[in-house]
Amino acid sequence: MDMDLKELLSQFKDDLKKISSLEDLEAVRLKYAGKKGVLAKFLEEIKTLSVEEKKEAGKKINEAKQEIQEKIAELQNSLAGAKSASAQDRFYKTLPGKKIAAGHLHIITQAIREIVEIFKPLGFVRVRHPEIDWEWFAFEALNIPATHPARDEWETFFVDSPPDEKYGRLVITPHTSNGQVREMLKNELPIRMLGISRCGRRQEDVSHLQTFFQFEGLAVDKGISITHLKGTLDYFAKNFFGPGREIRLRPHDFRFTEPSFEVDINCSLCLGKGCNFCKSGWVELGGAGMVHPNVLKAGGIDSKIYTGFAFGWGVERTYMMKSGTQIDDIRHLFNNDLRFLEQF
Ligand code: DAH
Repeated sequence: MDMDLKELLSQFKDDLKKISSLEDLEAVRLKYAGKKGVLAKFLEEIKTLSVEEKKEAGKKINEAKQEIQEKIAELQNSLAGAKSASAQDRFYKTLPGKKIAAGHLHIITQAIREIVEIFKPLGFVRVRHPEIDWEWFAFEALNIPATHPARDEWETFFVDSPPDEKYGRLVITPHTSNGQVREMLKNELPIRMLGISRCGRRQEDVSHLQTFFQFEGLAVDKGISITHLKGTLDYFAKNFFGPGREIRLRPHDFRFTEPSFEVDINCSLCLGKGCNFCKSGWVELGGAGMVHPNVLKAGGIDSKIYTGFAFGWGVERTYMMKSGTQIDDIRHLFNNDLRFLEQF
């Protein structure tokens, strides 16, 4: 027994030398001092000895067990200490943390929300009208009969479906003006509407997209005059583009307004000098004018009592003309290249 214990302790010390982790140490502890370990077996064996011998052997076994447990506790402390020290070494207090990428709304959504907020204090309420609509609302109701050449300007996509007797074919709305008569037919006067929808036209280049958004303003009330239109557009331009930008009204001819204007703003890229994007220093934002009596009539409104103004501009183009955006090709907005989108 004596010999066995000595041998056991020296074997234990050899085992300790091979330890490099807390897991190794736990395995050694179980081997020697565990419930089913070597020392437990020794205690089992001495049961058959005489009382005297048992006392003597038991004492020795307990001493060996104590020695083993002390060594294990010692080593446990130093291994645990080493582990936390190395974890500390790896923590660099001055190293910048990892930034979690935060997404944001698409710039067109941001622009739409901003436009809505600017018009809100004037009483304009955002409404929605169909983006696939009858030809009648997109043209006839707006004083553009089926055979009128002005229709060509709207490079329209027609939907391949059976036409309606009164309303004609279905179209992908080429402008948001289809919402004007739809709004009038709700029969709730006065009107202060801001319709914002997706539109489609058969054209695409640096300043045109096949799919784009327009915002359409319409005010119908008693005594609405051209000064209200000018004031409203001026107020919007100052709030959206900033006080340094200029707007101009150019006479134009739209079938659904009389008089009609084209609204231009000095280009944000060259500030009026003329560049590849704007050519002339001015960029057309969209049209505006006083609602034509025939349009009011189509909407069931008596043009002798009520008058109105309207305007319809492209959201993308309007956004591009904001100072500082420096976007020189409208198509960037819908290519969904994150390298572009993340800049805004
Ligand atoms: N709908 C026209 C377009 O897309 C723009 C426009 C012109 C809208 C004059 C209007 C308006 O409301 O009064 O080209």
